[in-house]
Amino acid sequence: MAAPDGRDEANRVRIFDTTLRDGEQSPGISLNRQEKLEIAHQLARLGVDVVEAGFPIASPGDFEAVQAIAREVHGPVIAGLARANAQDVDAAWNAVKDSERPRIHTFISTSDIHIVHQLQSTREDVKGQARAAVAQARGYCDDVEFSPMDATRSDLEFTAEVLQIAIDEGATTINVPDTVGYSMPDEHAAMWRELYRLVPDLTNVTTSVHCHDDLGLAVANSFAGVQVGCRQVECAINGLGERAGNASLEEIVMLLAVREAEHGLWCGVDTTEIARTSRLVSRLTGYQVQPNKAIVGRNAFAHESGIHQDGVLKERSTYEIMDAKTIGLESNSLVLGKHSGRHALRNALEELGFTVDGAALNTAFKRFKEIADRKKVVTALDLEAIVSDEMRQSESAYTLEDFDIEAGSERAPFARVHVRRPDGVVAEGEFTGDGPVDAFFSALNAATGREARLKEYHVSAVTAGRDALAEVTVLLELDGTTAQGQGVSPDTMEASGRAYLRAITNALANSPVAEAEHHIEAAAKSATP
Ligand code: KIV
Ligand code: ZN
Repeated sequence: MAAPDGRDEANRVRIFDTTLRDGEQSPGISLNRQEKLEIAHQLARLGVDVVEAGFPIASPGDFEAVQAIAREVHGPVIAGLARANAQDVDAAWNAVKDSERPRIHTFISTSDIHIVHQLQSTREDVKGQARAAVAQARGYCDDVEFSPMDATRSDLEFTAEVLQIAIDEGATTINVPDTVGYSMPDEHAAMWRELYRLVPDLTNVTTSVHCHDDLGLAVANSFAGVQVGCRQVECAINGLGERAGNASLEEIVMLLAVREAEHGLWCGVDTTEIARTSRLVSRLTGYQVQPNKAIVGRNAFAHESGIHQDGVLKERSTYEIMDAKTIGLESNSLVLGKHSGRHALRNALEELGFTVDGAALNTAFKRFKEIADRKKVVTALDLEAIVSDEMRQSESAYTLEDFDIEAGSERAPFARVHVRRPDGVVAEGEFTGDGPVDAFFSALNAATGREARLKEYHVSAVTAGRDALAEVTVLLELDGTTAQGQGVSPDTMEASGRAYLRAITNALANSPVAEAEHHIEAAAKSATP
């Protein structure tokens, strides 16, 4: 069958994005519901085929975020992950069922290492659980994916038996994960060839690769799978994911796009949305993109040596295999100035994909004016940063009212702050510290009454120039919970204060105590007729 543009549908590779599930499992990432929704909307704009929105049984917060995405994000299939047991499958279904295109993704390990040590079970039990979970999921939903976890370290004949069971019970996608990133490309291709031989029914379902990057081979292994017939790739923006991460979405997509003439494979992603999606995910997760990262690193299109610069100035293709425009990297043009009005701001935001009206538009406009007063030109990148910053502001957060920092080479730095607590009360805190940042953050601890410990602190500039907006990421630990927060402002200290208070808010929201309170509240609600 031919796609509308004449391409062969049989060569279309579905892009399954797991940034919000496997990616969110990276240490220190704690996205709230609003942030997850924002990423999911952007993934829909990017044109991915499937958004794996989360692991609904993991916590009430995860459940609610998956449910909100299922209800509000249109276009892609919305998948929820479930272990192969009845409660997980129920939770996944309840979370995704309101989507126009729901999917349940259930998994169980097939490797003896996992079966013996982690599940403390038997191969027979695994077969039974896989059978029951897929059958239950199929009872709810026509679109069911099954994954044999740690497949690349499993006895292949046993995995094949489990896959046959899953297909017999109605699984529509079979995803074979390289859970620990152990595979090599040739071996991966050979594994798939053997699976196709052992389970001929695999040709009647969508086959999928899910590779981790522990040996830096996630993209190569995924591509090896695709070359021998898999038509779904599970991947994450900026390569986020457990440990060394998953295959990076932008690398897979650009490999498909740049070399299509040779391999003939393609996907439906709008590559011009790649750079923006990468920035958004980096900003909201606090995971900076390494400068020399393929496709989205800040050096990916930079040319340092004189010979290279000379070549590119004469003819771009001398040292570039793709145009920066193809991934949407040229959006930093002037959009607004300090005399621009509300209408112009709304149009500019709409062009960037944000629909902002009513109170949200008023807040965005106020922020925009504050920035335009201090910065000559406000670019698309600035607007993106401000809007993301506002969207991060949750009602139950600690917010910075004002601050005063005194520092100099001859005196101990001193900070006084006022912080609005989630109950609306404004509290004061002050501290004399080793340096201005130490004094400031300690004063914030005093005002919030929390003993947070700073673990990481990064400052970067949204654009070039001395008047650039500062973007700060803070990673801290509070009562055993690690969390991050970001803040944006023309003033580096203000951005730091916002980031620090958001990290405290996130740590409190993710603490085991908060989870327990949420459970009690939910139980009390459901007990009320
Ligand atoms: O890496 C893995 O095995 C997974 C599964 C849950 C698909 O993430
Ligand atoms: Zn994984």
